[in-house]
Amino acid sequence: MGGRGWRRTLGLALGALLLAAAFPLLAARPLLLRFSHVVAPDTPKGRMARHFQELVAQRSGGRIRVEVYPDSQLYGDEDEIEALRLGAVEMLAPSLSKFGSFGVTEFEVFDLPFLFDDLEQVRRVTQGPVGQRLLERLARQQMVGLGYMDNGFKQISAGRALLQPADFQGLRLRVQASRVLVAQMRALGAQAVVLPFGETRQALAGAVVDGAENTLSNFLTQGLAPLQSDLTLTRHGYLGYAVVGNPRFWASLSDADRQLLRQALAEALEFGNRLAAELDRQALERLRRTAGLRIHELTPPQRAALRTAAEPVYAGFERSVARGWLDEVRRAMQPTD
Ligand code: LMR
Repeated sequence: MGGRGWRRTLGLALGALLLAAAFPLLAARPLLLRFSHVVAPDTPKGRMARHFQELVAQRSGGRIRVEVYPDSQLYGDEDEIEALRLGAVEMLAPSLSKFGSFGVTEFEVFDLPFLFDDLEQVRRVTQGPVGQRLLERLARQQMVGLGYMDNGFKQISAGRALLQPADFQGLRLRVQASRVLVAQMRALGAQAVVLPFGETRQALAGAVVDGAENTLSNFLTQGLAPLQSDLTLTRHGYLGYAVVGNPRFWASLSDADRQLLRQALAEALEFGNRLAAELDRQALERLRRTAGLRIHELTPPQRAALRTAAEPVYAGFERSVARGWLDEVRRAMQPTD
């Protein structure tokens, strides 16, 4: 081998050594993950995000830092999905109602009024193959679907009790940006006003809207109780979340880091799900003690009358979403044994 040959071999060997030395450093590089959401820290989603942050800090020895931005501090629900796609944040947990307007209309099934009787039915859908397929569908909209979490069932607040369809007449009620939720309020006799979550309080305070639908923990922690005289426990619809990530960020992770984050998230989501029912119960207790707020329960016939009034929403949904989709979800809701 001539002088040039030796120099080349030496150069290659040195290069290989440098690469070997650099790889563990690359795999162990510090990482920042910004997790933005729109609700208060002391809600099921807020507590889940903080739990995820703690688990990731512990397991990565502080190398992977999760920064949590609650309360629409960084982005509201009108711009957070765009921020995620652009890489301005790495993770979000929007409500399922928000994905329909981003082109994944199958998610609108979760908004159908009176579809789910309990969280077990929802989980059979979200935790099974149907839920998995929906998460995968988010890839077409430049999001990585990472998992689901419950908040609970929505109730409706206003300046009067809402015990029958006639009580909804003339009311302007805030809803999320979902065609199904707009149709639902119309079917009940009210006018739906689509507003970002973070603007709901102000809209109620300024009488831009007369009422809103939400879970008890959101109602309480957004400070809506002092602005409304009546809260009717309608349990008419489900509110849950899909955690999504920025695809370029997920693809840039080492396998070990991706696994660490997925495992921490799975545990945080379980923690959030366990907490959701408890925070719902605690919120109801606190709201029952709130002076000036009347809480109304529906009798079974009153609830049945609201359900009947909301039925036309189903026909509209079936016309606008892939045929057979609702039947498939209904089958997935059933226990398998
Ligand atoms: C809403 O806009 O009412 C909810 O999606 C807020 C949330 O994220 O729980």
